[in-house]
Amino acid sequence: MSDPIRFLLGTDERAIRDADPNMTVLQWLRTRAAQPGTKEGCAEGDCGACTVVVGEPAADGRMRYRAVNGCILFLPALHGKQLITVEHLRQPDGALHPAQQALVECHGSQCGFCTPGFVMSMFAMYHNEDRPSRQRIQDVLAGNLCRCTGYRPILDAAEHMYDLGNGDAFSAHEADTAQRLTALRGDATLHVTGSGRDYYAPRTTDALADLLAGLPDATILAGGTDVGLWVTKQHRKLDTLLYTGDVDEMKTVREDDDWIDIGAAVTHTDAMDLIGRHYPDFGELLRRFASVQIRNSGTLGGNIANASPIGDSMPVLIALNAELVLRQGSGRRTLPIDQFFLDYRKTAMAAGEFVERIRVPKPAAGWQLRCYKLSKRFDQDISAVCAALNLRLDGDTVQDVRIGFGGMAAIPARAVQTEAALRGQPWSEASVAAAGAALEAEFKPMSDMRASADYRMLTARNLLRKCHLETTNHPAPTRVLDHEEAQA
Ligand SMILES: Cc1cc2nc3c(=O)[nH]c(=O)nc-3n(C[C@H](O)[C@H](O)[C@H](O)COP(=O)(O)OP(=O)(O)OC[C@H]3O[C@@H](n4cnc5c(N)ncnc54)[C@H](O)[C@@H]3O)c2cc1C
Ligand code: FES
Ligand code: FES
Repeated sequence: MSDPIRFLLGTDERAIRDADPNMTVLQWLRTRAAQPGTKEGCAEGDCGACTVVVGEPAADGRMRYRAVNGCILFLPALHGKQLITVEHLRQPDGALHPAQQALVECHGSQCGFCTPGFVMSMFAMYHNEDRPSRQRIQDVLAGNLCRCTGYRPILDAAEHMYDLGNGDAFSAHEADTAQRLTALRGDATLHVTGSGRDYYAPRTTDALADLLAGLPDATILAGGTDVGLWVTKQHRKLDTLLYTGDVDEMKTVREDDDWIDIGAAVTHTDAMDLIGRHYPDFGELLRRFASVQIRNSGTLGGNIANASPIGDSMPVLIALNAELVLRQGSGRRTLPIDQFFLDYRKTAMAAGEFVERIRVPKPAAGWQLRCYKLSKRFDQDISAVCAALNLRLDGDTVQDVRIGFGGMAAIPARAVQTEAALRGQPWSEASVAAAGAALEAEFKPMSDMRASADYRMLTARNLLRKCHLETTNHPAPTRVLDHEEAQA
């Protein structure tokens, strides 16, 4: 018999049995819960019309609220969590929430289709950040598109909501909500069955390893920001899902003197803080990774295991010589990440094996990392080319270098010949030109809707030059200026 999916809808407890595990939160809200405030625009995580907020108890006993895309979040993933939509924001005295009131006062809505999504992104921001800068607000709202109002009044509203009150009914009851959710969640593996499909949410890595050993054809589900689209866009039916998002050990981050050790189910949002502290350029790249909603769901392990040749984290992890800890049953093995990608979407993972952790070396003396993402739009776009160069100079000589590229081959790839052309050479324009020739010999990029092969090759060569200029006597800002900095 199916376990019930227990969660809070607003503040009301729900227990849903026999739901199809492939059903999304958005579908459930609109077709089963009679709560159609949340809209569907694209059903693929791009437009933000479906933005809802998911609350989870945090380590300090309070609540952590995160905006996510309801269109690609499977319903069982709500187990033990709080789902908040635009229907739940009215205050006990009947007043609008500051996020809603500010949009009214700043004229931030016209047709209104995008508005519930903006409201929910603003609601999460209201809980997580105290009067962020204009630039930060733009970053937070980059995953919400509006076709008619224009963004200025919406950004004004996101600033103005902080003038309209401090806290809301949700903050007043955080500790109580956290306790209710902890009781709802329980400690056992959740097994949901419905429409002939199964969904398992184990709580430990051992339980996950055992389940996968017995169900080697199951689909591992982490944030679902790739897997969700297989269902909503490719109309595939996923008969057995194994969810990693409730395995607490895989959501931890550890640090020692030499390594940053990241559980495969850590979200990009959580990984970004830590990695960005040690490698600011990598943090900056992750800031341009999709949108806040996608980064709140999507995981580093999912990005790697998905093995897309245009995934953003892998070129950097290759340049940093990161390692993967792979788990199969009770056995573990460690593999350098550049040996993980074998062919287009083919990895070194055996049947029944999964990525348990990602180990990133801490910055070592003398090394400098540069990361570059080229895409048609600055925000919320997939790379045409992504490059990461990890360089160790001895005076003017390249003592050592590791280079990772995305978008240049069928896999995220290490540029071995290009590295060899640079190693031991003067760090000069002539050496960079020679390395560019090696790059041309090493890669045959493809043409697709994102870029032509010629564009990819030319820009990849130019990124080597850019790195040279930035690390010699032409330092150029790689970071986008904060709005206030730009005004100054
Ligand atoms: C709108 C949008 C924008 C995006 N923008 C970007 C972008 O800018 N850059 C980018 O790189 N990607 C982008 N993506 C792709 C996606 O967000 C990332 O690849 C993400 O990291 C996937 O992680 P996930 O946790 O959602 O994985 P899921 O979708 O849950 O899983 C992805 C794959 O990994 C497997 N898997 C997951 N965890 C494990 C594990 N621990 N062990 C073994 N296999 C596992 C799954 O079975 C599946 O095959 C975007 C996606 C969307 C929808
Ligand atoms: S409907 Fe467009 S992001 Fe979900
Ligand atoms: S108000 Fe019409 S899409 Fe934003």
